[in-house]
Amino acid sequence: MLGGRRPPPEPEPLSHFEPASPLTARRSQALKGRLRVPGDKSISHRALILSAMTVGETRIGGLLEGEDVINTAKVIQALGARVERMGEGAWSVHGVGVAGFAQPSAPLDFGNSGTGCRLVMGAVAGCPVTAVFDGDGSLRKRPMKRVLDPLMRIGAHALEMAVGGRLPLKLQGARDPIPISYESPVASAQLKSAVLLAGLAAPGETIVIEKEATRDHTEKMLTHFGAQVAVENVGEHGRRVTLKGRPELSPSPLQVPADPSSAAFPLAAALIVPGSEIVLEGVMTNPLRTGLFVTLREMGASIETLSTRNDGGEEVADLRVKASALRGVDVPAARAPSMIDEYPILAVLASFAQGTTRMRGLSELRVKESDRLAATADMLRVNGVAVEIEGDDLIVEGKGRAPGGGMVATHMDHRLAMSALVMGLASDKPVGVDDAAFIATSFPGFVELMRGLGADLS
Ligand code: S3P
Repeated sequence: MLGGRRPPPEPEPLSHFEPASPLTARRSQALKGRLRVPGDKSISHRALILSAMTVGETRIGGLLEGEDVINTAKVIQALGARVERMGEGAWSVHGVGVAGFAQPSAPLDFGNSGTGCRLVMGAVAGCPVTAVFDGDGSLRKRPMKRVLDPLMRIGAHALEMAVGGRLPLKLQGARDPIPISYESPVASAQLKSAVLLAGLAAPGETIVIEKEATRDHTEKMLTHFGAQVAVENVGEHGRRVTLKGRPELSPSPLQVPADPSSAAFPLAAALIVPGSEIVLEGVMTNPLRTGLFVTLREMGASIETLSTRNDGGEEVADLRVKASALRGVDVPAARAPSMIDEYPILAVLASFAQGTTRMRGLSELRVKESDRLAATADMLRVNGVAVEIEGDDLIVEGKGRAPGGGMVATHMDHRLAMSALVMGLASDKPVGVDDAAFIATSFPGFVELMRGLGADLS
């Protein structure tokens, strides 16, 4: 530190501090029932941000009304779009056009959401406005430099930021955005999407090349709103996405399908609570999101597809899930992008399987809402399950049951909280979480919905 002087203290994170709300899950009776989980989080963020970049009104149905998405709605309103809630999950957005955002008068608060923050950084990077990006204590720890690097090549400037390229961060959008060809160094749909959203305002072609294909909701939704997007396969698992810049995006209604990453929790609970049988309705089965289902079928899970249909441009299915005897498997690194948010719950299921499960190539888990690699291993360890981290791999020794009895530190991470609670529904002793409040970021109503199936949560 220069001259031994301390840097000024960071301002408090914008999101209000809420008291922790602990919760305990106990061994439950068989889970039964039909349910529909809330709308997909990734698609909900994109629906708001992209419709704000059209000219005119877009009606959105089935929007996830979790805290993360509500923060994105407030942010696009602060950037000049008109946003109205018309009914449950029904929203109207009057967009301001590509590069049409207004200068916000206060810092933009993204709460816990990396997706909201990084996608809006991309959208703002192509506009001649300056905005401060901020969020809660978890979001302030997450890397933003990976997004800033390509956005600066496009012509945006980071005027201020916290140490290590973190929030709070002041971003000045480009006056004359430059189209770039960008080879993504990490498999991240957020990074890809940020570059594409900035590229909307640039003349010519913006190209993103990814070695491993990641979720393609941005590409699909850009096409839905009338942009020209070409997608080609590159190598065994990669893609090249080419966007023609400066389209006029036209409003068009959107229906958000049910989130497979949320469906994963009741689905997992039904697999491990003896005698369970549930039906999950309308779960999105986009192949870039369903690596967990592939893995679980390899483990011997009974997941039956009852019917498939198209909902808002995505394939969806009703799934019947029955309690199953699971066996350990080797999950290849190449599958990680299609199930990146599902490793904490897969690790729980691996504890209840017979044999070793090795989950490979999980470096990206270290930069999620928490260091999910370490936190997932801790969650299992405090509940008596043998687990190791070897390099970027997570190895769980499944014994067909989990002792439980632990109190899990959730580190402001919704998916850890839900994973630990699912574990407690089938473990020998109860499992507690220190704070269940963050579940509301992605899955409002989780506790009530699980109780409705017969889960003992209190
Ligand atoms: C998301 C992409 C993933 C995922 C996140 C949602 C998205 O993050 O973990 O929950 O909507 O684009 P990365 O892009 O950092 O892998």
